[in-house]
Amino acid sequence: MRIFLIGFMGCGKSTMGRSLASMLNLTFIDLDTFIEGKYFKTVPQIFAEEGESEFRKKEHKALEEVALFDDVIVATGGGAPCFFDNVEVMNNAGYCIFLDVATESLVKRLIHSKTERPLIKGKSPDELKTFIDALMQKRRPFYEKAKYILKGIELHAADVIAVVKN
Ligand code: S3P
Repeated sequence: MRIFLIGFMGCGKSTMGRSLASMLNLTFIDLDTFIEGKYFKTVPQIFAEEGESEFRKKEHKALEEVALFDDVIVATGGGAPCFFDNVEVMNNAGYCIFLDVATESLVKRLIHSKTERPLIKGKSPDELKTFIDALMQKRRPFYEKAKYILKGIELHAADVIAVVKN
């Protein structure tokens, strides 16, 4: 089985992926961490030294690689579905699930997150909300190409399990 969790930064893909991995006996892969291991550079470093478009190429390659692994649950970066044919790659390889979490929850989680995210670095809570609303509008059509969509203020592992056990 392969599960791909997609959605905006801060929607809980990695947290959810980690707990689902142990519940479903799958290997958890965080695509950003996979990229960092493959290129020996952090994501912020790749953005700063090579630019976003080079990061997206690396991300696409990494996704194509992990889409060949068996028994994995993959948390992708928030932008991954919006470049190349990445959603098709995921829909064809397994369960691609969009975690459509309310903006309030995204803002709350991103404000408290310790992960360095180049796209939102230095933003105040108000700026963050405006940024999320604008970028979500652009990204939603890509996210909604996922075969499965879960919507909620907050989502739980049980919601994903219901999709894959059906
Ligand atoms: C990005 C999201 C990040 C990471 C990079 C770009 C985005 O991943 O891939 O900073 O474009 O939304 P998370 O969604 O895990 O924060």
